[in-house]
Amino acid sequence: MSAGRVAVVLAAVAVVLSGAAFLRGQTAAPPAEKAGAPVENEHAGYAPGLGEIMTFQQMRHAKLAIAGANSNWALADYELDELNEGFDDIVTYHPTHKDIKQPLTEMVPGFMKASIDALREAIKAKDAAKFNTAFDEVTAGCNGCHQAADFGFNVVIKPATAPYPNQQFAPVN
Ligand code: HEC
Repeated sequence: MSAGRVAVVLAAVAVVLSGAAFLRGQTAAPPAEKAGAPVENEHAGYAPGLGEIMTFQQMRHAKLAIAGANSNWALADYELDELNEGFDDIVTYHPTHKDIKQPLTEMVPGFMKASIDALREAIKAKDAAKFNTAFDEVTAGCNGCHQAADFGFNVVIKPATAPYPNQQFAPVN
């Protein structure tokens, strides 16, 4: 065999061996100490994506509108809390976003806090007219942030129908 041939054969063997090592690495079980390691950060596991949390916000925004239209203040109060918790999750899991210049920790309160506070007051006062005004301000806040974040094609509107056939929106009492 010529020296050139030997080199080619050796190179081929090296490729096969490194390929096998790569496969072994991929299928290897994690080291025992890693598998049982305590979770240092309570958020270290599954982190919901921003778009996923926004999909929940969309549902809460819709249910909030329907609850308000039914003067169901207990449900409206509950959905507003849920909406707030969703915004807490957003700043916890996504304090910044790779495509957005301003930190979300500033944008979320900047666009949402005043209108959410006004909505809370309206719900507390069981005032339908105030609720409608504040709800429109909340919706404007959602869209203001979408535009500022260059996601302005995601347009939030007040729902005209109640798309939840399995939930009662009239007050229980
Ligand atoms: C930080 C500013 C900000 C605020 C405030 C905000 N959004 Fe978003 N929203 C975003 C961004 C950014 C995305 C795109 C996220 C992604 O997919 O990575 C988004 C996406 C969405 C989507 C599309 C989700 C999908 O995958 O289909 C909906 C619906 C949505 N938002 C609803 C709302 C509603 C309702 C509110 C107000 C109650 C709201 N958003 C407030 C920034 C914001």
